Amino acid sequence: MTILVTGGAGYIGSHTCLELLQAGHQVLVFDNFSNGHPEALKRIEQLAGRRLTLVRGDIRDQDAVEAALRQHGCTAVVHFAGLKAVGESVEQPLRYYDNNVVGTQRLLAAMHNCGVNTIVFSSSATVYGDPQRLPLAEDHPLSATNPYGRSKLFIEDMLRDLYRANPDWRIAILRYFNPVGAHASGRIGENPLGTPNNLMPFVAQVAIGRRDFLNVWGGDYATADGTGVRDYIHVVDLALGHLKALQRLDVPQCTEINLGTGNGYSVLEVVKAFEVASGRAVPYRVSPRRAGDVAACYADPSYAERFLGWKAQRGLADMCRDHWNWQEQNPEGYV
Ligand code: NAD
Ligand code: UFG
Repeated sequence: MTILVTGGAGYIGSHTCLELLQAGHQVLVFDNFSNGHPEALKRIEQLAGRRLTLVRGDIRDQDAVEAALRQHGCTAVVHFAGLKAVGESVEQPLRYYDNNVVGTQRLLAAMHNCGVNTIVFSSSATVYGDPQRLPLAEDHPLSATNPYGRSKLFIEDMLRDLYRANPDWRIAILRYFNPVGAHASGRIGENPLGTPNNLMPFVAQVAIGRRDFLNVWGGDYATADGTGVRDYIHVVDLALGHLKALQRLDVPQCTEINLGTGNGYSVLEVVKAFEVASGRAVPYRVSPRRAGDVAACYADPSYAERFLGWKAQRGLADMCRDHWNWQEQNPEGYV
């Protein structure tokens, strides 16, 4: 199969492209490099010992997507391209709706025109809004608390509508929990531009000495140690979930699937695990809560196991070890 991977030069996309190549697929990366790095693609090819094809383009350019699909005979799409910073989406909502929602509409229209009707979409646990019950199963009510989350919800609805109108489509909506870690080689990983918003890249930059201390956003949540609890998932486990989803798209469907571990860890548990993995101290200060954060969020991953035959294999210690290995080998990210 030749698979068009939108956003394949980004964090999750790069790890998934590597697994796709290693599984024997042909990979066409379609990326505008707004947040991805060409160096990631070179390193994927080195690790896989195989070439991939790159088209530099924007998913909002429908003609360019159609040309890529046709020229390379793509049979499926894995769709990562999107903007993902929650705070930025509050400040620049139109940019998020344009890039994520309009971009996905054009991508789907291009697929429709080319007769490609198989897609795996990167959604997020953010579509569950403020959890009403834990763990979060796929039938939990959906809502959005910010424009980023709303863009994911719109896209999910667009995909469900598309399937209702065209029941021959094959659609997997993957709801990721908190992806962290890096490939075990340390050659590819997350390359945050500017100050990281997410916990693990920030912790890694403190450990390596690029930042003095971590701000722990809130120490007064109703959790065991008062800090926020999340379901961290190793990015390689997440990437492997995409391969399983593609395999399962051998018949028409539109299916929502959680990709998480089912285990929640607090901010302080992550800090401790990272100190052990890195052998470095991670000083922190407990600060006021961050607006929009919830106390706890973790998955019921049992449907993924039943439906995909997929289960995360890597634990928190593996996530921290591999994240640290990437950070140590690439202190400034891709250069
Ligand atoms: P990333 O920013 O590292 O990767 C996104 C890639 O898409 C980048 O390479 C970027 O250049 C590209 N891109 C963005 N807009 C584009 C456009 N209009 N046309 C072409 N390319 C474009 O992000 P990531 O962490 O790898 O996330 C991938 C997907 O997974 C996103 O859709 C994100 O919303 C979703 N997701 C991420 C997380 C997370 O915590 N990382 C959690 C849940 C869901
Ligand atoms: N945290 C800190 N200090 C930091 C960064 C984070 O204490 O510097 C805490 C947060 O308060 C939270 C936990 O670490 O308790 C995890 O925060 P992240 O920012 O890493 O992740 P979130 O759970 O807030 O966000 C993630 C994705 C979003 C998605 C959201 C909901 O990054 O894209 O999950 O699914 F919208």
